[in-house]
Amino acid sequence: MLKTKIISVALGVALVVPYVLAAPTPEEDRKAAVEYYKQMFPDVQINDFVNGQYALNEDRRKQWESLQDFPPYEFAVAEGQEMFETPFANGKTYASCFDNEGIGVRQNYPHFDQSRKEVITLELAINECREANGEKALRYKKGDIASISAYMASTSNGKAFNITIPDDPEAQAAYQDGKEFYYSRRGQLNFSCASCHVQNPGKWIRADFLSPALGQPASFPVHRSKWGELGTLHRRFAGCNNNVRAKPLPAQSEEYRNLEYFLTYMSNGLPVVGPSTRP
Ligand code: HEC
Repeated sequence: MLKTKIISVALGVALVVPYVLAAPTPEEDRKAAVEYYKQMFPDVQINDFVNGQYALNEDRRKQWESLQDFPPYEFAVAEGQEMFETPFANGKTYASCFDNEGIGVRQNYPHFDQSRKEVITLELAINECREANGEKALRYKKGDIASISAYMASTSNGKAFNITIPDDPEAQAAYQDGKEFYYSRRGQLNFSCASCHVQNPGKWIRADFLSPALGQPASFPVHRSKWGELGTLHRRFAGCNNNVRAKPLPAQSEEYRNLEYFLTYMSNGLPVVGPSTRP
């Protein structure tokens, strides 16, 4: 950001020269992240990073592949589709709220709304669609909203994430805010997200095998055996905050939406593969 540096020149005059610190652009961040993980895991195909721990651990991958014949989220996706297609009391459907009637759009979320000056995630858009049509908002972490989001993700499978950051200081600030959140230490354990997912992917932490930040949002919502159901990305954020004994923030809080903006931007170019399963 803008910094001011005082430069003393030979004449002894102190000049105040404003200059822009070489803050990396989001695109430079993304390229650096891709390079970093490529070097860390030279045998992993770049698109495979969307599979998180399964890209890095053969045993975990086998267990996962054996689930693919009867994925435990199948029923929820079918329910999500039904809810998506069932008209609201006013006769309209979710399709009326989205580009391309909501089919194959997951890869464009979250996006920055320049008139509202905030990050809009898919789940937020789903609830705003409901409220605009006279329906009650759904709870954010699981249940119906996860099923609808999972169905919408399934219609985008294979499409490359295409998160845009408009040339707008507030959009840039939202991205930077998410990035800062990712790198800030917190909780009794004093860990940042990066302590685990940037510094230690591919390592075990107790019974868990750590995934890299790259590709993380692509499988969401996921069905976790631990949950016994589908959960949204913000449910996972809250879980990771809890793991380091930091107070989780509410799902769809501005902080988590900005965090999702940063994290999903890092995955630009990688394919949507959600929903999926996780331990
Ligand atoms: C103490 C280590 C630790 C910290 C700190 C941590 N996580 Fe995690 N996270 C995990 C573990 C363990 C898992 C489950 C295994 C995996 O996928 O990495 C996980 C999973 C995830 C997943 C799901 C990945 C997938 O493929 O299913 C996301 C997204 C995630 N973390 C985001 C975050 C964010 C954002 C933060 C910071 C708020 C964070 N994590 C902080 C340990 C951590």
